[in-house]
Amino acid sequence: MRLVAHLCSLLCLLAPLRPEAARAAPPAAPKPGTSFATEVAPILQRRCVVCHGPDKAKGHFRLDTFEALMKPGASEKPTIVAGQAGKSHLLQLLVEKNEDDRMPQKAGPLPAAEIDVIRAWIAGGAKFDGPSPAAPLVSFLPKPSHPPAPKRYAHPWPVTALAFNRDGSQVIVGGYREATFWNLGNHQMTRRIGGMPERIHAIVLQPGGGLVAVAGGSPGHSGEVLLFEIASLEPPRELAIAGDEMLCAAYSPDGRHLAAGGADKIVRLFDVKSGAEILKLEQHSDWVHDVAFSPDGCWLGSASRDRTARVYNSTNGETRAIFRDHEAAVESLLFANDGKMVLSAGADHTVRSWDSADASHAKEFAKFGVAVTAMVPGEHSVFIALADGRVVQRRPGKREEARRFSGDGDRVTALAIHEGLELLAIGSHGGRVRVWNLKDGSLVSDFTASPGITR
Ligand code: HEC
Repeated sequence: MRLVAHLCSLLCLLAPLRPEAARAAPPAAPKPGTSFATEVAPILQRRCVVCHGPDKAKGHFRLDTFEALMKPGASEKPTIVAGQAGKSHLLQLLVEKNEDDRMPQKAGPLPAAEIDVIRAWIAGGAKFDGPSPAAPLVSFLPKPSHPPAPKRYAHPWPVTALAFNRDGSQVIVGGYREATFWNLGNHQMTRRIGGMPERIHAIVLQPGGGLVAVAGGSPGHSGEVLLFEIASLEPPRELAIAGDEMLCAAYSPDGRHLAAGGADKIVRLFDVKSGAEILKLEQHSDWVHDVAFSPDGCWLGSASRDRTARVYNSTNGETRAIFRDHEAAVESLLFANDGKMVLSAGADHTVRSWDSADASHAKEFAKFGVAVTAMVPGEHSVFIALADGRVVQRRPGKREEARRFSGDGDRVTALAIHEGLELLAIGSHGGRVRVWNLKDGSLVSDFTASPGITR
């Protein structure tokens, strides 16, 4: 819905004289004004290109460019007959009653408003109004806009992403349309980096480098992965744009690759230097909540709202293991130090351990009265964040908890660890950051990480 609203406002900006670009509920007398580039292409890009693009061409049919869209697939029936929506095979497949034949396959039918747009465009002559009929449709998507962050926040903003800087003197916090830097000593905000999406769900620092990756977006509308150099004042650069929020990111241990996942259900792997997308894993049927590499970088794991966690070969993307024992969304996963075992955790209140080779030897590692929201690995232990604000440290093979860090009662929404200094940072939904010294268990820092709010 938000995309539709956004496209409409964009269209109205571009063409102020265009009559009624917004779509009304009952379908569609021919609307000669329906635009391929700004209205039809985004629908096809978001709903169809996964199966009809460069990677896959189901039914020998591609529609990732206008040119390709106009060529029939295996059926040899004309996909689009200009002026005659009813004779266009593509439209017939959108409104097909039989679920097995309807497009998009393996999903519900398109919303009536989207079908109306496509019908109206065909009825209006199926004209091309983009820059080039051979250009990929993805290039027609509006770039996410980045309005500046407010100088002072009206309310504390949930800390959904958190990272230490290299020397552990500061934390980098995901704010509203920005990343903010906070001194742990005096709780002063020292830097703000704008040009970011509305919500930030992950901030990760490159191992052995200075490149910070940020994953986020705007729900149901757009997702982004951005990179910025921690030591420079250059604005962030874009690594990827997606049709929905990006929810997680992780660097490979050598810092050369970055994995990211999100609400578009896809796990992507990028080469950091060139920015190329080198793997696109479409195994999950729901949001990807977390991604993690094994310590040797050979395996990549993902956790999803579809109740599964998966392990892939990080070089060729082959699936190695699928873990299906969780009874609710999987929120987090990590590899044990030897890479052999995986811990996964989620909304079913459990942390489970299993073999990364084949998901065998599954055991309940820990069980709580509330959902697990995040985990980070420590030395010979794991820190487990809970929806009631606690963070619990557990060691493998031990039933009892090693330590417990009490929070402010709010859901823990982010965790970060600085291994060298043995610091643990906990971010809460209420906007607070608490930093604990793991050597002596003392609370080092406790503040609200929202600009303009001092508490
Ligand atoms: C999950 C994969 C998937 C998605 C998503 C999907 N399709 Fe398909 N599509 C298929 C498959 C598989 C076939 C071949 C079906 C067959 O041969 O019975 C097909 C065939 C077609 C054909 C017929 C090509 C021909 O001439 O034989 C058209 C047209 C088409 N799809 C349009 C669309 C449109 C438009 C969308 C988006 C709204 C879409 N598809 C989304 C899997 C998909």
